Amino acid sequence: MTYSRIAGTGSFLPEKVVTNHDLEKIVDTSDQWIQDRTGIKQRYIAGENETTGDLAEQAARRAMDAAGKGPRDIDLIVLATTTPDQIFPSTACLVQSRLDIHGCPAFDIQAVCTGFVYALAVADNFIRAGNATCALVIGAETFSKILNWKDRGTCVLFGDGAGAVVLEASEEPGILSTHLHADGDYANLLHVPDGVSRGYDQVQQERAFVEMRGNEVFKMAVNTLGRIVDETLEHNGLKKSDIDWLIPHQANFRIIRGIARKLQLPIERVVVTVAEHGNTSAASVPLAFDVAVRDGRIKRGETLLMEAFGGGFTWGSALVKY
Ligand code: UT7
Repeated sequence: MTYSRIAGTGSFLPEKVVTNHDLEKIVDTSDQWIQDRTGIKQRYIAGENETTGDLAEQAARRAMDAAGKGPRDIDLIVLATTTPDQIFPSTACLVQSRLDIHGCPAFDIQAVCTGFVYALAVADNFIRAGNATCALVIGAETFSKILNWKDRGTCVLFGDGAGAVVLEASEEPGILSTHLHADGDYANLLHVPDGVSRGYDQVQQERAFVEMRGNEVFKMAVNTLGRIVDETLEHNGLKKSDIDWLIPHQANFRIIRGIARKLQLPIERVVVTVAEHGNTSAASVPLAFDVAVRDGRIKRGETLLMEAFGGGFTWGSALVKY
């Protein structure tokens, strides 16, 4: 039986830091409100000419270095993003070329904040099926470029960044299971109304930006993530106490704390980066993962639960033996 295991991780953040106090000068908000309601203190924002592909490339290079893999080792690239550099080619293809990787399949996945978990599940399935042996899995976003900087309900929440892992075939697990879900009935609660096929509204340009009914999304996120935690544990016949680390999507500290309580996991066993990174959508889980691997908190052999919830709605989890 072939499994996939995580051989290395990497991440990358843009240089520019925007604090809550900086945002107080742009919209009617306060550092106190943002921290109380979300736990966010600051976020990283890409430069005007800095793209999702730029961030993804650096994160991928770091993950490949950590895994000890070169361009010729990689035979699959799956990149999760909602903010691609261009309509086409995919950002995965653009990054493939920059990494001097040629010929292997490379494609983007669009599942908004659940994107990385979707990408990880797809790459894991490719490897288990014998269709790839060493995959680069990337979550990268420049969400700042689809934010309405006049809307205090959304612009204070998001940030930019990228995270990546190298997944390789192994006789030992690895990825123990992945669980993916979606329900398009909730599309209007969290979306960018305009798009390529619907056209861009030249008059009301706001339609090209993120719109969210935050409170309704919050309630759905808490309930749905609670259910997927149960589903993941049951599927693997595990108890809550078998989980060493929770690596949650970093949207809101209150949601993260709720899931930690459900797992009866002390907050010290939860990787929390939302204060520094904000919500980086598809990049949030791999970014948090890489931070905790590099600072030595997460160790080989430990059991990790990753989970995410986002626009679509989409939601998913991955149980990983690191
Ligand atoms: O990553 C994808 C999934 N996304 C999420 O999981 C996000 C889920 N939602 C949330 O995290 C929270 O709902 C928010 C942080 C977005 C909002 O927190 P909330 O506790 O749900 O607040 P609310 O939307 O109910 O708004 C409460 C008040 C409102 O004022 P009134 O109507 O009570 O007078 C808002 O207008 O807070 C106001 N408000 C703000 N005030 C200061 C909204 N945004 C801001 C702001 N600064 N930035």
